[in-house]
Amino acid sequence: MNKLIIINGPNLNLLGKREPEIYGDQSFEDYLDELKSKFPEFAIDYFQSNIEGELISKLQDVGFTYDGIILNAAAYTHTSVGIGDAVKSIEVPVVEVHISNTFSREVFRHQSYISPHAKGVILGFGLESYDLALHSFK
Ligand code: DQA
Repeated sequence: MNKLIIINGPNLNLLGKREPEIYGDQSFEDYLDELKSKFPEFAIDYFQSNIEGELISKLQDVGFTYDGIILNAAAYTHTSVGIGDAVKSIEVPVVEVHISNTFSREVFRHQSYISPHAKGVILGFGLESYDLALHSFK
């Protein structure tokens, strides 16, 4: 069975409560249960951290053994050379995901340190962006 992991960055633990007009009103835990039942062919792990170094350590931990990584580095996408370097350094393909269309928002969200090293980028489809990322590993 293909082993995948979803890695979420800062403030994504607040999904459902945080700016629901942008990010929706569902918690990620509830959504993850739905995802797991929609994709029984995958073993899906989940990790969330608000701390940049923890995200880097997790990418290093899984980056040579898993079959795929779905990464929403949230605000660190736009600032973190370290997370970009980690994605570049590992072997497992990374699909970068965003819930919102970052290109229709503030200019500082148009920059990504991850995209140049990602297998692909999916953004703007709400939580369904994660469904689409999982499809890409089928
Ligand atoms: C986000 C977009 C980022 O700009 C923002 O900082 C987030 C969430 C998204 O999924 O739309 O926290 O990554």
